[in-house]
This record gives sequence, structure tokens and C-alpha cells, in this order.
Amino acid sequence: MIEVTRRYSFSASHRLHSNAFSEAENSELFGKCNNPFGHGHNYEVFVTARGPLDSQTGRAFAPEILDNLVSTHVLAAYDHKYMNTDVSEFAELVPTTENVALAIAKRLADHWTEAFPAGTPRLRKILIRETDRNIFELTL
Ligand code: NI
Repeated sequence: MIEVTRRYSFSASHRLHSNAFSEAENSELFGKCNNPFGHGHNYEVFVTARGPLDSQTGRAFAPEILDNLVSTHVLAAYDHKYMNTDVSEFAELVPTTENVALAIAKRLADHWTEAFPAGTPRLRKILIRETDRNIFELTL
């Protein structure tokens, strides 16, 4: 088995705010990330898939298949959007990058077999770099 990672990027804004808490509690909990006007990031998303090496092509999978999947089901939904209102998952969920990683994994999983009907490769990992100091990794 071999793991292959492709890197993607999108720009989006968010506000960390939960309806489960009061304004004061949100401010205490999320600090400047609770700013009512939101703020943006240039997110980098690393998607890792794992599969057997095809001896004829010398590859684990055709990278353009993954690129199309990510571009259609993730980047189109997230790029240049205000996640709190423009991305359906965050109508209820706080758009922390932990939740963004889970939401992206779900979007990819929901369409994975359309892209890879043979069942390989499998989705293994989503790593999101939000800032130099904030990196989130979801292993599946
Ligand atoms: Ni932020």
C-alpha cells in the first residue's frame, strides 16, 4: 500500500460563535475569534489517500480524479465564502477547523465511490493548515 497526499487551498472567513452560549460566554470562550464581523484565513488542505500500487501505471490512483472530487465537492462550497452562513454544515456547527476537517471528510466520503468505484484508494487523512501555528489532522 502507498499513501499519496495532494495539497489544495481555499480562502474563507468564519466567526467562532455557538448559539449554546450567551454573548459574554462566547466572547470569553473564543476571544478575538468571536469578533461579530468574522475574519478570514487562507486554508491549506492536504488530502491523503491510501491504495495499492498499480503495476502498469506505477501509481496508486490518478491524481486528477481526487482533484475533481475535492474541487467539485469541497473547494466550490468553501472558497471565498463566509462559512457560518454560506456553508450548510455550519448552520448549527461552530466553524472551528476541527469541524471543517470533519465536514470536508464527510463531503469526500459521500462522493468517494462515485470517484473511485473500485473501492481503492481509501480516504486516510485530512490535514488542514489554518495558520502557521494552527494545524489540524483528522485520521480516518
Ligand atoms: Ni479563525
